Amino acid sequence: MSDSNIQGAALITGASTGIGATYADRLAKRGQDLILVARDEARLNAQAERLRAETGVKVEVIKADLTNKADLAKLEQRLATDTAITALVNNAGVAGANDFVSTDPDAFEKMIQLNIVAVTRLASAAARNFVPRNAGTIINLASVVGLMPELNMPVYGATKAFVIYLTQGLRFQLGDSAVRLQAVLPGATRTEIWDRSGQDINAVDPNMVMDVDDMVDAALAGFDQGELVTIPSLPDAADWEAALAAKAKLYPNLSRNQPAERFR
Ligand SMILES: NC(=O)c1ccc[n+]([C@@H]2O[C@H](COP(=O)([O-])OP(=O)(O)OC[C@H]3O[C@@H](n4cnc5c(N)ncnc54)[C@H](OP(=O)(O)O)[C@@H]3O)[C@@H](O)[C@H]2O)c1
Repeated sequence: MSDSNIQGAALITGASTGIGATYADRLAKRGQDLILVARDEARLNAQAERLRAETGVKVEVIKADLTNKADLAKLEQRLATDTAITALVNNAGVAGANDFVSTDPDAFEKMIQLNIVAVTRLASAAARNFVPRNAGTIINLASVVGLMPELNMPVYGATKAFVIYLTQGLRFQLGDSAVRLQAVLPGATRTEIWDRSGQDINAVDPNMVMDVDDMVDAALAGFDQGELVTIPSLPDAADWEAALAAKAKLYPNLSRNQPAERFR
């Protein structure tokens, strides 16, 4: 992914538009072959044709609905066994369904299927491919919503908190492995996800909305700098480290053989 690691292909989910399409553009310009995945084959093909012509990299298109078990299984099989694949950008996701009481729970299930189940199964397939070879990259698209329950998106935010935890937990589990991991936590980014989820991006304070090109370029700069968690708009990385340290202060008392004094 970084200049020293341009070999093989990156498989990008949700590559037909938005953040995924922008990753495709940037990675092709870094010389990386691509496998583009989404449901809209015509859009993927147009994107592939442009990138082949502009950059000369190989671009394959796979039409898949990642909430469909058979489509997902086929992709997992490919990702777990094709040693030409050296990176997974686990990006496809949906937002919305924010009102917990009035939303049909089937909408929550569908969101969990895409934002959690597909992300986990694809990361697992990539890990089975990459870990034995001690190489490869997994980038997971989370969101700052995963850090902020106050943003009033309880299910979407929980799916993104899952992605952050998964990435951090996997980093601990993989220890010294050379497999690269990154969770990217965008804030509001101008893409179709807003329209698709019935939300108006123009109602958000423009000072809080990032252009998708800037967001992906910053996320890749964070990757090149070796960050595990990248928040593209955060000016001082020390603030994130301080938040982690504040949480770690709880650790010695999170599991003990006696209830706390105040509960006795
Ligand atoms: N934009 C933001 O403000 C923002 C902020 C924080 C985090 N994020 C996260 O960033 C990621 C990308 O978001 P985005 O803003 O680029 O969204 P987007 O513009 O809506 O694009 C979503 C992509 O996912 C694909 N997709 C949706 N459902 C799918 C399914 N069932 N199977 C396969 N592909 C599917 C879409 O393609 P098809 O319709 O062709 O399948 C599309 O390529 C998401 O995980 C999102 O949660 C976005």
